This record gives sequence, C-alpha cells and structure tokens, in this order.
Amino acid sequence: MFHDSGHDQGVRSPFNANLNRRIAETPSIIALLQAAPDEQQLPVLLLAAVHSLVLAEPDLELAQWYPTVTADAFDSDPFPAFERLCSQRGQQIREIVALRFTQTNEVGRCALLLPALGMLDAEVGALSLIDVGTSAGLNLHVDRYEYRYSPGGTVGRASRVVLICGTRGAVPVPDRLPAIAGRIGIDQHPIDLSDPDEARWLMACVWPDQADRFQRIEAAIEIAREHPPEIRRTNAIAGLRPAVSSAGEHGHPVIMNSWVLNYLSDAQRVDYLGELDAIGSRRDLSWVFAESPALCPGIPFAREFDNDSEHLTALTLTRWRNGVRTVEHLGVSHPHGYWLHWAN
Ligand SMILES: C[S@@+](CC[C@H](N)C(=O)[O-])C[C@H]1O[C@@H](n2cnc3c(N)ncnc32)[C@H](O)[C@@H]1O
Repeated sequence: MFHDSGHDQGVRSPFNANLNRRIAETPSIIALLQAAPDEQQLPVLLLAAVHSLVLAEPDLELAQWYPTVTADAFDSDPFPAFERLCSQRGQQIREIVALRFTQTNEVGRCALLLPALGMLDAEVGALSLIDVGTSAGLNLHVDRYEYRYSPGGTVGRASRVVLICGTRGAVPVPDRLPAIAGRIGIDQHPIDLSDPDEARWLMACVWPDQADRFQRIEAAIEIAREHPPEIRRTNAIAGLRPAVSSAGEHGHPVIMNSWVLNYLSDAQRVDYLGELDAIGSRRDLSWVFAESPALCPGIPFAREFDNDSEHLTALTLTRWRNGVRTVEHLGVSHPHGYWLHWAN
C-alpha cells in the first residue's frame, strides 16, 4: 500500500534511489521479493524490510549507513553491506515481505487539517473526530502537536512533535487549538502501536534519509501510546455510520480523510459519498479532506485543477447543515504538509 513512485525516491530519497538502482541489477536480491504477493513485489517493500531489520538490530554492519539508526551514518555506498545482509538474512527478509505491505501515517498532514478544524471549532464548538483510513491513528492527536506556520505563527502546546508548514495566502491559522471531544479511527488494516513489531514496521516504511519525518513519527508514536484512541478495524464505507453515531454523542462529528480516497475504487468512492450524504441529510456533519484530485475522480473538490500531478493535494471542507451540503475549496498543499497555499 504505497503511492510514492521511483521518480520521487530519486528526488526525495537519494539513499533509497541508489539502492533501488543496484537492486534492479542484482537478481539474487530481486528473487527475495518473489515471496511477496504479486502486486506487492516492489523494491520499496524490500527496502522497508531491510530497514526494519537494521532498526531492530542496530549492531548489524549495514546499520552504520542508516541515518535513522546513527547520527554519524557513513556517507559511502551502502550497497555492498546491503547485499551481504540480504544474503545472510534472506529467509528472514522473505518472511517479512510475505507478511507486510508498506504502510504510512504522515503526521505532517495535521498542519493541513488544523486550520479547517479551527474554522469548524469557531463555528460549531467541540469537535468529535472520525479519521477514516487512520493507519496508526496519529492524526487523531492533532491537538497534541506544536505548529509553526511561516508566515502565520505558532499554535499549540510545546510538544515532542513540531510541525513546520510554509504558507501562502490568508491561511486562517487558529489562535488556539480546537476543542476535541472525541476521537475514533477507522482502517481496514490499522497499525497496532502496542505491538512493537507493527510500530517498527511503520517507522521502517519512512525513507531512511528523511530524518525529520522519522523523528516526528517516532515522537508521535510515543504520544499515541500515552493516549491510545479508539481504532476500529473496518472498511471506510461500512464503518462510517456507526462511527458518526458514536462520535456524535461527544461533539460535532468531523470526518477526516488524508491520502485515503485514492485507495478506493471509483464505485467505492461513489458509495462513500452516498453514505456521507445520507448521514448529512439527517444530522449536521463536516468532512475535511486532504486528497489528490488526480487520483480521486468522483470526489467533489469544488474547483478544477490544471495541475494533474498526482502529488498535488487539495484541502476541502464539506459541510452538511440542516440537510444541505456545501463544499468549500480551502487550498492546495504538499502531500506531507510542508506547505499550504490558501485559496483566495
Ligand atoms: C496512505 S495511508 C494514509 C494514512 C493516514 N490517513 C495519513 O494521512 O497518514 C492509507 C490508509 O488507508 C487505509 N485504507 C485504504 N483503503 C481503505 C478502506 N477501503 N477502508 C478503510 N481503510 C482503508 C489503509 O489501510 C491505510 O492505512
């Protein structure tokens, strides 16, 4: 389950891009991936499997090249040590790729969700969050992080997770955190952070040379373990109604989606929207999403996009009030929340 192409690794992770190139030339390593289901036989899965080994065993020779293991990582070519580890631990790597698929939970997206939640907090008061496609539930802790918008200022308490977001336009950076009265996550394959192997796997799926992402996910996992939210293992469509019903007991229900709707089929997206409309016809409801217009046909984005990059992320706020749906395009952003450009 991943959406980062090889091209992006070249730009954003030279470490993985180099290993990718070398793996492609090494049949004995490619063979390890044959243990994975057909659609998962991608080098990124193998790279995450090896990353998980070095995180679990920092004394391995290869670990000395990983900035996620040591602050003094070697900057020479890691491939000879990578190849040795693949040969020594082939069976273990086969077992990992057979069992796992790449998983992400990008806490940086909270910097995108926060202004929209601030608008809702000002409008309706306490919010009860339902994060659909929540992964490990890290974005349910949106009010436990510190935000630095530039320009825009600082919001939130001093936190181990500091999110820095460059802004353009009149981003309504709230002057206080929204009141969160309830939190429910829904995911068909949630990550259970109480299981050290699952937590490590989530971290292993972060590219090794993206130290900022790695550090903040590590800190966010600590916070989530201190405040475990309710996470329901269910499908986005089937889980929606019961979750809104539970959440609505605590505050105004707000559905959140970030980089999830692209995993639904066209028909599932129609069903999902139908469910939201059916619920919204009977009770006030809000829906905030940060999704890729290019990958989510059928979803109302409230404007057309000239830029067809799959990475362009649109932030949209949909409200159902007294049975009437309105859709507001809020802005466009970096997929991981590093910048947010507000609409007029
Ligand atoms: C790319 S991750 C994004 C996770 C999180 N929203 C974030 O922004 O970091 C997509 C998540 O959606 C979940 N997912 C995909 N299809 C789903 C479905 N039909 N029902 C529930 N969860 C789904 C996956 O299991 C995965 O955890």
